[in-house]
Amino acid sequence: MEIVRLTAVSKTFGTGAGAVTALDKVTLGFAEGSFTAVMGASGSGKSTLLQCAAGLERPTAGAVSLAGADLSRLRESALTRLRRETIGFVFQSYNLLPALTAEQNVGLPLRLAGHRPHARAVAAALDAVGLGDRARHRPAELSGGQQQRVAIARALVTAPRVLFADEPTGALDSTASRAVLGILRSLVDDRGQTIVMVTHDPIAAAHADRVVFLADGRLAGTLDHPDAATVAAHLTALEAGDTETVGDHGTSRAGGAMEARTTSSATLTADGTTRAADGMTRAADGTTRAADGMTRTVGDTTRTADDATRAVGAAARTADDATRAVGAAARTADDATRAVGAAARTADDATRAVDGGTRAAGEAGSARRGEAARVGGRREGAADGRVGGAGWGGFGLAGKASAC
Ligand SMILES: Nc1ncnc2c1ncn2[C@@H]1O[C@H](COP(=O)(O)OP(=O)(O)OP(=O)(O)O)[C@@H](O)[C@H]1O
Ligand SMILES: [Mg+2]
Repeated sequence: MEIVRLTAVSKTFGTGAGAVTALDKVTLGFAEGSFTAVMGASGSGKSTLLQCAAGLERPTAGAVSLAGADLSRLRESALTRLRRETIGFVFQSYNLLPALTAEQNVGLPLRLAGHRPHARAVAAALDAVGLGDRARHRPAELSGGQQQRVAIARALVTAPRVLFADEPTGALDSTASRAVLGILRSLVDDRGQTIVMVTHDPIAAAHADRVVFLADGRLAGTLDHPDAATVAAHLTALEAGDTETVGDHGTSRAGGAMEARTTSSATLTADGTTRAADGMTRAADGTTRAADGMTRTVGDTTRTADDATRAVGAAARTADDATRAVGAAARTADDATRAVGAAARTADDATRAVDGGTRAAGEAGSARRGEAARVGGRREGAADGRVGGAGWGGFGLAGKASAC
């Protein structure tokens, strides 16, 4: 089953005289669980092909289907969700967020998907690319190759069904490069993931099941079960404009190349000049894109920094609220303690008052009995007054205590 399919996909950047056709009616499928390398000269449309296939760029014409969904029919939010759930992308320029550490960069796709990054999954992805000991480093504290490996770990961490990798070994030495290619190969062989990888390196391409060649935005042949020597030979033929050996897709271009060989040397020189001018235009385009990319990255970083600042502000506000709540709770607890104390004192006072009353009543009783015995019942009212006075005096004190 094809998990990605491009049908007559064209992509033109700009308009009028400055328009650049980066892809020109490319029709191509990628089978689920396959490993494809995309090769071609600088400016031939490899990155554009990957970005259109991944739904990061919308084609000017043609259709792209990803995991059964026609991307042109999806709104931006649905497209974002599909991308998040289905694909991983290693950018040619890495696109790491400079303010985040390696492990935070790796955990980012999980966070964006609304999951808390599992420390173990993040550590495993960094370990897989040999960077377990650089988890706390920021991109500026890492070499180019290490940054590239962080970008690879970030694309691995979600175990995407399709992994697009734009020159993932471009900045790596041969040892690191072999390790990364080994990982990619095992993702396909052991987990059935699909990989589409741009590379300029025939040795890297030889790890794939198939190589797809691009020239000037057009498909210029494919090669199954590639080995490095055959890939290198095809690239040389492609650069010379001779694509006869490349296969079916290259046949029409081969005809053009043969015609070209029969033209005069003056035409060839003019062609060379045109190619040089094209090269310079592409280089200028590349520089503009790099500047654009940097602007975007700076924009992203600023947004991230802003978000972080806002998050810190919110956290601080939450902490303040928590402190205030704790303070209020403490005050309430204090009040409760004080109230209990007061109640206890009141109860004590009441007890004392009752005791006093009882005693007074007892004394009054005995006095009354004595008086009665001596002078009769006329002084009884005075004795009752003493009992009442002792009782209310006690409650008066309790009243003051409870007001504290
Ligand atoms: N955003 C853009 N705006 C204008 N032109 C663009 C843009 N992106 C790509 N291009 C142009 O489209 C063509 C193909 O570019 P692309 O980046 O796909 O090439 P590539 O094959 O990946 O090259 P490289 O090997 O140098 O990375 C180039 O001529 C390039 O200048
Ligand atoms: Mg590129």
